[in-house]
Amino acid sequence: MSAERDINALLAGLRAGVPRGVEITGVRPLTAGHSNETYVLEGLDAILRLPPSTPPVLQGHGVITQGHVYQELGALPDILPTPRILHLEEDSGLLGDPFFIMETVPGAAVTDYVLPEWFTEATPDQRTSVSRQWVAAIGSIARLQPLAAFGTPATPESDARKWRSWAANADCPALVALYDRLLSRPAPRSGPVSPVHGDPKIANLMWSDFRLSAVLDWELGHNGEPLTDLGYVLYFFRPEIYFGVPLPSLSGIISRDEAVKAWEAASGRSAQGFEWYEAAAVGKIAAIVARGYQMIVAGESHDPKMARWKEMLDANIALMDVVLG
Ligand SMILES: Nc1ncnc2c1ncn2[C@@H]1O[C@H](COP(=O)(O)OP(=O)(O)OP(=O)(O)O)[C@@H](O)[C@H]1O
Ligand SMILES: [Mg+2]
Repeated sequence: MSAERDINALLAGLRAGVPRGVEITGVRPLTAGHSNETYVLEGLDAILRLPPSTPPVLQGHGVITQGHVYQELGALPDILPTPRILHLEEDSGLLGDPFFIMETVPGAAVTDYVLPEWFTEATPDQRTSVSRQWVAAIGSIARLQPLAAFGTPATPESDARKWRSWAANADCPALVALYDRLLSRPAPRSGPVSPVHGDPKIANLMWSDFRLSAVLDWELGHNGEPLTDLGYVLYFFRPEIYFGVPLPSLSGIISRDEAVKAWEAASGRSAQGFEWYEAAAVGKIAAIVARGYQMIVAGESHDPKMARWKEMLDANIALMDVVLG
C-alpha cells in the first residue's frame, strides 16, 4: 500500500473478515511511529498493527515476523510481559497488507521527544523503580533461547557492518569512518547467543501503575549478542544524548553504573566490554537519523518529528567519537 489508508475500508474489512470482527465499532489511528502503523480497534479492546503506508525511515521485520515474535515470547513462562496475539493474517487480500491484532495492554509509555506527565510528576522512588525494571527486563532477554522468528543469528560484527552500510547509503562518510574504527577492534562476547531486542529504548515499554506491562516493538530484533541491547540502553543514560529522553536530568533515575549492575544481575552475564556495544548503538542511532535526514532533504518525508535530525545526527557522530575514545 502506498497511499493514505482508508479507515472506513479497514473497518469494513475487519468487520467482515476477522474473528469477532463484528464487535469492532471504529478504527482509530494510535501512533504513526517511524515505521509501522498502530490503530485502536474500538469495541474489541484490541490493537491493529499494519505495515507503513508511506515510505518508512526503517524497514525492519515485516508485521508477520513481529507477530510471530510476540507469539513465541508469549508462550514462554512469564519472563517478559508481551501482548497476546488475537489474530495474524498473512494474506493481503482482506486489508491490502498483512496485519496482526493484539490485545490492548494496560498502561502507557515513557514516550520519546516529550516526556509524559505521569513520569515527570512521579516520585523519585517511582522513577527509580521504573528505570530499574526497564534495564532488568532488557537484561532478562539474555537468558532466553534464540527465537525461531529471528532465524540465523547475526554476529556483532555483521550487525555493525549492516549499519555501516546504512551510513554509507545515507551518504555519511564521517559515520562510516567511525564504524571502521569500531570494526578494527574485536567485539567482546558475554556468552551464548540470545534474542536481541534491537531498539530497547524506554519508549518501547509500557507501564501500568509503575509496573512493567509490556515490552513492545521488536521490529529491529535478531538473534545475537545481548550486550548489543545493553550498549543501546546505556546510550540513554548519557546526559548529553540528543534523542529521546535525557533520563539523567530526572531525579530518581538509576545511574549508569547501577544500570550496568542491574543488567548483569538480570542477565546472569558479565557486562565486560560493553563500551564496544555502546559505540555500536550510537552508530546505529546515527545511521537511522542519517537516513531520516536524507529523506527530509530529498523531500521524501515531511515527518515533523524529524525537523531537528541534522542536529541529532551531528551530535550522535560527535558522541560516537567520544565513546570510541
Ligand atoms: N498491545 C498494545 N496495547 C496498548 N497500546 C499499544 C500496544 N501496542 C502498541 N501500543 C501503543 O502504541 C505505541 C507504539 O507502539 P510500538 O512502539 O510498538 O510502535 P512503533 O510504531 O514502533 O512506534 P515508534 O516508532 O514510535 O517506536 C506504544 O507506546 C503504545 O502506546
Ligand atoms: Mg516503538
